[in-house]
Amino acid sequence: MEQRKTRKPGSQHRTFPTNMYQRTYRLEVNKVLSIVYVVGTELKVHLHRCAPSQSKFFSVKCTPTVQFRVEAGAPVNDPDGGSFLSPQVLTKNTVLFISMKAASDVVNESKFSVKFYGDKSELIGNAVLHLTAVEISLDVDADRDGIVEKNNPNKASWKWGPKGHGAILLVNCDSEYSFLKEVDCENEEVNKVSDLKDMSKMILRTRGPAVLPEGYKLSLHISKSHAESVRVFRTSGNPQSSTPKYLLLKLFLKDYPLVLNKEHLAGEVPYLGGDSQQELFVEGIRFPDKDFDGFVNINLSLLEPNGQGFPETPIYTDKVLFRVAPWIMTPNTLKPVEVFVCSTSDNYEFLKAIKSLVKSSGYKLTICHEYMNRGDRWMQDEIEFGYIDSPHHNFPVVLDSPRDRGLKDFPYNVLLGPDFGYVTRYPVDEWVDSLDSFGNLEVSPPVTVNGKTYPLGRILIGVAFPTTTNGRNMAKVIQDFLQAQKVQEPIALYSDWLEVGHVDEFMTFVPAPDRKGFRLLLASPDSGYKLFKSLQDKGHGNAKLFEGKEEEISVDQLMSDEGLRAENVYVQNCIDWNRDVLKKELGLDDEDIIDLPILFKVDPEEGNGAAAYYPDMVNMLVLGQNLGIPKPFGPQVNSTCALETEMRSLMEPLGLKCTFIDDFASYHKRQGEVHCGSNVRREPFEHRWWNLEL
Ligand SMILES: *[C@@H]1O[C@H](CO)[C@@H](O)[C@H](O)[C@H]1NC(C)=O
Ligand SMILES: *[C@@H]1O[C@H](CO)[C@@H](O)[C@H](O)[C@H]1NC(C)=O
Ligand SMILES: *[C@@H]1O[C@H](CO)[C@@H](O)[C@H](O)[C@H]1NC(C)=O
Repeated sequence: MEQRKTRKPGSQHRTFPTNMYQRTYRLEVNKVLSIVYVVGTELKVHLHRCAPSQSKFFSVKCTPTVQFRVEAGAPVNDPDGGSFLSPQVLTKNTVLFISMKAASDVVNESKFSVKFYGDKSELIGNAVLHLTAVEISLDVDADRDGIVEKNNPNKASWKWGPKGHGAILLVNCDSEYSFLKEVDCENEEVNKVSDLKDMSKMILRTRGPAVLPEGYKLSLHISKSHAESVRVFRTSGNPQSSTPKYLLLKLFLKDYPLVLNKEHLAGEVPYLGGDSQQELFVEGIRFPDKDFDGFVNINLSLLEPNGQGFPETPIYTDKVLFRVAPWIMTPNTLKPVEVFVCSTSDNYEFLKAIKSLVKSSGYKLTICHEYMNRGDRWMQDEIEFGYIDSPHHNFPVVLDSPRDRGLKDFPYNVLLGPDFGYVTRYPVDEWVDSLDSFGNLEVSPPVTVNGKTYPLGRILIGVAFPTTTNGRNMAKVIQDFLQAQKVQEPIALYSDWLEVGHVDEFMTFVPAPDRKGFRLLLASPDSGYKLFKSLQDKGHGNAKLFEGKEEEISVDQLMSDEGLRAENVYVQNCIDWNRDVLKKELGLDDEDIIDLPILFKVDPEEGNGAAAYYPDMVNMLVLGQNLGIPKPFGPQVNSTCALETEMRSLMEPLGLKCTFIDDFASYHKRQGEVHCGSNVRREPFEHRWWNLEL
């Protein structure tokens, strides 16, 4: 609708870029009605409906605070201010639009009357209206700058992208307490004043008389399905008064009464009178998922009384929209913050090597001790680190795998805490198998695929081959959760060919100074055989693998093992299938991929599952430029390991530094390696998720 002519440019009052809120209203002849009017709306009066039946003409009179216009009548000019119209012709379609520009200081401040005439200007009726104008705005941070601005025209919609808009909500999945903790959003209270920073602020701004006429109420309301995902609290006092922060800290929980939750779909909020701002706090309680797109509407209505015994009628509704922030994973190319590793009865040397690597790289190391890990050393498998982000706050969030072995309680009991969130998904009607471990959940660095950008990368999971019916899979509840986050669109790889079945057994990403900023590293039996063949050719056929570790085997013996060769042809086929998927889905060229010389063996006793033949160098810890690589114990040539030499020659040109870590007995022989036995919490992306163009 066009802007009203009577609105002065630069007016301090709200402007409506879209449809002005109109309300049909009745007048009653020979009565005085009193009405609360919301600034920015229009009252629409069908005059013919309330006119005495003999009426032929009408005239209007009002105080200067009221504006009106007439449609479908004789041409009438907008009067400037309070006015008296000489009688106009009343037609069947005469509609009167009434509005006001500013809030009233007192009830009944403005008056409006319509007189009706029969023939010869004989007065036959007079309808009087007393108006009390209020301004009402339910406000959110729709422009995403961390501040709740006044009446953003886009507050009820949501648009992705740097030029987008729309408010953001965090799932309050941390715990304000380090002891006796629970995830904050699992209770119906504000836990501590510090809990409020995990919520999104909403401000109810009102202006008008000190009190509303009897029976008028402000009510927040929400649909039943949206109420599954949020709670709304209000402040009981009037926090616009300049209460100092240290006094606020002393307020008790009752100072933040609950207004909306799934049992209370509507709740009254007080009208504070005068020019006031009331803070409300919205708590996200559910991540986007298969049955929840992340969007939540919250509406505020002004209710008008209808007289004794009748329910109130909403006469004005303001609306806001939030989207719950997704859980975001962090690829190897992001800066590490903290490395996690388990201490067990048999991994002392491994731990020492990790400590030294992490320390020299300058990051924090956290050791999970045996009383907590209960002998479970697979730190990669129990958890995946990610984070949630909003313009006002962000914090790390651990996704807890349903795998639940010895490390089962570590994420909840140790990681969950103030500003450290926790989320999990557990399948109810599916088996939990090895593919539900998070060595089978990785994320690529940012990529562009056929012109489509993924500034936060893409999630990679391992599943069964699409053509098998009885393969192992990652649980559907986890896949659904990952998919619903939307910002790192997952790719399914084929990992069921491995005995353990994790994608980190055959691939990883390392940072690179050129091209796309990274390289994909893939295990490659072909490049392994090529290396061993060249050793043979150079007369090193006698060089031995596994020296000092287990039964040694020479390059010649290895090369003549036809069974092993056949197994590795099969393995290479499996990896090549994944290579094609990765190239296509991540938009990679062959130059973005480095093949690492790694052989596998296939165990018919274990359903033909494959496992690394010697320590699986691709299963590494990536800490910036420093790589912690499983020490392969390959053939010794010129007193250095030929596999290490090859690895260095592939990594060092990228500015990467290789540290080979002996994980042979404590990890490799137990079907895992350095990556499986560690985990890294990394810094969030600089690119904010809401700036994605989705
Ligand atoms: C406002 O006007 C109505 C209708 O005349 C009247 O009933 C009511 O008492 C008035 N309220 C105040 C506060 O003046
Ligand atoms: C709130 O407003 C939205 C958007 O117009 C609407 O879809 C929803 O039904 C409303 N919810 C309630 C409970 O009034
Ligand atoms: C081993 O050392 C000899 C002599 O220094 C050198 O010629 C040869 O290339 C080296 N072999 C390998 C595989 O590095």
